[in-house]
Amino acid sequence: MGGPLRIAIVRERAPGETRVAATPETVRKFIALGASVAVEPGAGEAASIADADYVAAGAEVSAAAVQGAGIVLGVQGPDPAALAGTAPGAWVVASLDPFGQRGRVDAYAAAGLEALAMEFMPRITRAQSMDILSSQSNLSGYKAVIEAANLYGRAFPMMMTAAGTITAARCFVMGVGVAGLQAIATARRLGAQVSATDVRSATKEQILSLGAKPIFVENVAGIEGEGAGGYATEMSEEYQKAQAELVSAHIAKQDIVITTALIPGRAAPRLVTDAQIATMKPGSVIFDLAAAQGGNVEGSVPDQVTERHGVKILGFANTPARLPADASALFARNLYNFLSAFWDKEQGKPVLDAEIGDAIRLTQGGKVVSERLRG
Ligand code: NAI
Repeated sequence: MGGPLRIAIVRERAPGETRVAATPETVRKFIALGASVAVEPGAGEAASIADADYVAAGAEVSAAAVQGAGIVLGVQGPDPAALAGTAPGAWVVASLDPFGQRGRVDAYAAAGLEALAMEFMPRITRAQSMDILSSQSNLSGYKAVIEAANLYGRAFPMMMTAAGTITAARCFVMGVGVAGLQAIATARRLGAQVSATDVRSATKEQILSLGAKPIFVENVAGIEGEGAGGYATEMSEEYQKAQAELVSAHIAKQDIVITTALIPGRAAPRLVTDAQIATMKPGSVIFDLAAAQGGNVEGSVPDQVTERHGVKILGFANTPARLPADASALFARNLYNFLSAFWDKEQGKPVLDAEIGDAIRLTQGGKVVSERLRG
C-alpha cells in the first residue's frame, strides 16, 4: 500500500465558474482524516483563496495535483482528458450535470473512473449536510433579490420622508423551495411586501411563517404537487389553467418577480408569459433563476438583461458563482461532510453504503451504472 489517499482539487475551467471545491478549512479536515491534499495552482483565486492559504493548511499546490489521486474534487465536472494519471478507479466528485453532459459521463466510464454526481444526493435527513443543491440554491435566492433590487429604479422599503412617502415594493416569489424561501426572507429584510406561490401545498405554512402572503390555487384536483423526495411533479392541465389565471391577476400588481421553479430532469415549467409581462408596470424587474434550465419566464436569456414592455428580465446561468467565497465555503463543506461521513479508518478512504452510493454513482468498472441515466 502506498501512502495516504490523495485528494486532488482541480481549478475550474468552465467559463464564469468562480467557485472552488475545497477551502483551507476543508483541506485541514481532510488531512486530519489521514488523507493528503493536492490543489491545482490558482484553484481558489476567484474565490479569494490564495495558493499560499492552501499550503498553510497543509496542501501541496501543484500543476500535477491529479497525478496519483484517488479522489478528484470539482465544482463542475472536470474534463476527462485532464484526469489522466489518477489512481485506477479514482472517484470524481462534483456537480456533474449528468443529463446535460452525458458525453462527459461516458468518457469518465471509458477512463475507468468512478463518477459521483453530488446533485443526485438523496433528500434524506442524514444527507442534508451533503446537499449541494440546497447550499447553492439558498445563496441563489438571496442573490436574485439583491440583483433585482439593484436593477429596480425604486426603493424596496416604505420610506416616510419630509419630501413625501415612498411606497414599499411588491415582490412575488414563484416556487418556494430552498431558493424561494431565501428570496422571500431577503425581500422581507429589504422591506418589500412579499407574496409567494408553489405547486406543493406544504409550502403555504412556510410562506406564512416568513411573513409573506401565500397565493394558491384552491379546489382543483391534484393540488398536492409533491412527488418523490419532496420534489415537484408536473401538474394537471386543469391545475395549470387555474394557476395561470390566478397568477395573471396577481402579477399585474407586482414590481419584482423572482421565479425559481424547477422539475428535476425536465425543462423548467413556464410560469410567466409575455402577455402577463405586458400587464406589469414599466420599470418592474423579473429575475428568472431557472433561466439556464429553459426559463420560467418567456423571453429570459441566461446572463442577459432583456427588456419586454418596459419590464427588465434577468437571469444568470450560474448565480452561486456570483458569491464565490460563500458558495465555495458551503460547497466545500458539503463535499467534506459527504466523504467524512463514509470514512473508513482502517482502509484510509471513504466506503459508501448502498442508499447514497447507488443514488449518486454514475459510472463504475468502465460502465454507466446510474439507473437515472439508463432509464
Ligand atoms: P427545486 O429547485 O426542484 O424547485 C423549486 C421550487 O419550485 C419547488 O418548491 C417546487 O415545488 C416549485 N415548483 C415546481 N414547479 C412549479 C410550478 N409549476 N409552479 C410553482 N412552483 C413550482 O426544489 P428545491 O428548492 O430543491 O426543494 C424542494 C423540496 O425539497 C423542499 O421541500 C425542500 O425543503 C426539500 N429538501 C429536502 C432536503 C433533504 O431532506 N435532504 C434537501 C433539500 C431540499
